[in-house]
Amino acid sequence: MALATSKLLLTDLASGIDRVPSNYIRPKCDRPDLSRVVSSDSSSIPLVDLQGLHGPHRGEIVRHIGVACRDYGFFQIRNHGIEEGMVNGILGTAKEFFRLPESERLKNYSDDPNKSTRLSTSFNVKTEKVANWRDFLRLHCHPLEEFVHEWPTNPPCFRDVVGEYCLRVRMLVLELLEAISESLGLEKNCISNNLGRHGQHMAMNYYPPCPEPELTYGLPGHTDPNLITILLQDDVPGLQVLKDGTWVAVNPIPNTFIINIGDQMQVISNDRYKSVLHRAVVNCNRERISIPTFYCPSQDAVIGPAGKLIDDKHPAVYRQFTYDEFYSKFWDRGLRTECCLDLFKVSSAS
Ligand code: OGA
Ligand code: NI
Repeated sequence: MALATSKLLLTDLASGIDRVPSNYIRPKCDRPDLSRVVSSDSSSIPLVDLQGLHGPHRGEIVRHIGVACRDYGFFQIRNHGIEEGMVNGILGTAKEFFRLPESERLKNYSDDPNKSTRLSTSFNVKTEKVANWRDFLRLHCHPLEEFVHEWPTNPPCFRDVVGEYCLRVRMLVLELLEAISESLGLEKNCISNNLGRHGQHMAMNYYPPCPEPELTYGLPGHTDPNLITILLQDDVPGLQVLKDGTWVAVNPIPNTFIINIGDQMQVISNDRYKSVLHRAVVNCNRERISIPTFYCPSQDAVIGPAGKLIDDKHPAVYRQFTYDEFYSKFWDRGLRTECCLDLFKVSSAS
């Protein structure tokens, strides 16, 4: 067994070992079991073509999105309008960041989940018992001018490249939120009008190659606590989604993003749309980078099922709460497969 080490970041530990250190090893009942994972196709993860979203075929595309949100909770999008150059730019910048010398990266290190800009490792090193095979840089991105001055300045292009990407992704999210609102039979601004000032966070996830990937996770099964996630990944597989009790490996498709419904969308839709369990596994050979954008309500926004989606047949499944209340419970509990949402059900005692 490898010896415990004093390295703060996994990147600086992983390159020198050929066994997984004991604090990364999952109990036997909680390992990825990679032999039972199936590969994705369009019957497990829909691919939605956004070409023509603002033209005469809008109704059709909105219906497709609605079915994807209702029956899958996960879908991929193509013809989303974000240029390939911008996508390659941010992936390259993330890679450069994680290749900086340890001392340079550590300038951004913090284990405090309340910090709006921080580099850390695993998920929540303060509370978890088993660590995850991941380093990550987390950034707040909206409003950009409030946060950009906190971001790394190395590589030198970081703030420009990442800032431009964040603004562009936000435009795409707002378009998706309109389409999702319509797909629920709501006014197109209904969802976005109920998010307070809106929030947008980003993670740059770096999963180093792992000598024993069957013993550990990049990220264990979880649902995303936010409203909706737009995931950009490189060409290395690793994301898996739970569909009808089976883990499905999502094959990266060039020029697509993966969209998944988060817990707040499940609440607003009064359980019509589902926030689905997903996880990241690692592999022996290749490092992997993924860049999720977590779009969310602002901390003080009051979230609850949309009034139009509550009636005698569909009583409110959730009580109202502030996003702040939900979010702090999420970070305190750590990543667990039981969803944080249960704590906010109308029938829940807590
Ligand atoms: C996440 C997540 C998946 C991935 O960061 O919440 O689910 O493929 N990431 O990195
Ligand atoms: Ni996630």
